[in-house]
Amino acid sequence: MSTSIGIHDLSLATTEFVLPHTALAEYNGTDIGKYHVGIGQQSMSVPAADEDIVTLAAAAAAPIIARHGSDGIRTVIFATESSIDQAKSAGVYVHSLLGLPSACRVVELKQACYGATAGLQFAIGLVRRDPTQRVLVIASDVSKYDLDSPGEATQGAAAVAMLVGTDPAVLRIEEPSGVFTADVMDFWRPNYRDTALVDGHESIAAYLQAVEGAWKDYTEHDGRPLEDFAAFVYHQPFTKMAYKAHRHLLDYVGFASDKDTISKALGLTTAYNTVIGNSYTASVYLGLAALLDQAEDLTDRSIGFLSYGSGSVAEFFAGTVVPGYREHLRTEAHHESIDRRKTLDYAAYRELHQRTFPADGGDHLTPAQTSGPFRLAGLRGHKRIYEAR
Ligand code: CAA
Repeated sequence: MSTSIGIHDLSLATTEFVLPHTALAEYNGTDIGKYHVGIGQQSMSVPAADEDIVTLAAAAAAPIIARHGSDGIRTVIFATESSIDQAKSAGVYVHSLLGLPSACRVVELKQACYGATAGLQFAIGLVRRDPTQRVLVIASDVSKYDLDSPGEATQGAAAVAMLVGTDPAVLRIEEPSGVFTADVMDFWRPNYRDTALVDGHESIAAYLQAVEGAWKDYTEHDGRPLEDFAAFVYHQPFTKMAYKAHRHLLDYVGFASDKDTISKALGLTTAYNTVIGNSYTASVYLGLAALLDQAEDLTDRSIGFLSYGSGSVAEFFAGTVVPGYREHLRTEAHHESIDRRKTLDYAAYRELHQRTFPADGGDHLTPAQTSGPFRLAGLRGHKRIYEAR
């Protein structure tokens, strides 16, 4: 019998601030129905001036280290597409903030929103090679589009940290995976830009094509039949996208694709993403957290995952929920992380959106805004300075 490997613990963190879509709609004159119903978004997480992918990631991972210690963690994989440095992995800052042992490899991974799934699969490979090891996989992103662009309503920010190891307490990840890659320019961010560029409607079409491709490959590798799955967790750039994707999959396999069937299959997975917004690499794992935190009992049930990253790469894979998993969930902490956010008005959000660090190498302190456990204190001589509280 092969060793069971998967997610032993999962923890999320999001930002200090939140912008309700009502405030955005009031500012730009959009009918709120387009946001609440059309794209399925209620609000978006907005980072404080002293928050970034590192502070979010450390906040997500700290409770995992507090519960399990750092013994056996010899690898940290940090997945992001809103990287803060072209050379140094954001994970090295997190390694330092969490006080992890120096006998550790740390690396940053990128392929748009898909990166964390690559991280999870690579982690499983490492654990298979040495079952005594555990891997800390972190997905952390700040989604940022131009002000007054169609993408603006689909911004957000969050991090999810996962401890991957043998005999997982929460979810066993299964083989096979179905994988898919296509060279498309649906969404990208050149190195000289803070905000992403996107062809919105092309990106939806590319996502649907990837769903089909990943599922096809999954079935060709003897994956489970569709009816085996108790729920489906999709990457959610906006929650309505999960509905579009699942309808596409059901149509592709020739199953009924009415709204009730789709809602039953994925309704619970959207609860966090609808109020946090797009968190890129973290999004699909926020979907998993929302499902596990709310579902009645998923013991021994299989969950289907569709991870999509523009550009594009997708993967369909399955996980089986482990008996006793509910004792290991962090439902209360997840709700607290979301509920503690302070509501911004549109003007304050816009000011935060426009903030950039001067590139002159001087000393630039950030205003103390976050009440989170870690903060970005400023930039000194082109170096980011982080603080733990
Ligand atoms: N009441 C109810 N619904 C309304 C409405 C109203 N008053 N007004 C409009 N709608 C509906 C529309 O009918 C439409 O629904 P359907 O898609 O089901 O037809 C929906 O609201 C959106 O309307 P539009 O298509 O007119 O909106 P838009 O042109 O502003 O673009 C968007 C929407 C493409 C998602 C845009 O927000 C965008 O570019 N977002 C960023 C890109 C993105 O998220 N792409 C997703 C796939 S790529 C990916 O997944 C990777 C990633 O993370 C980026």
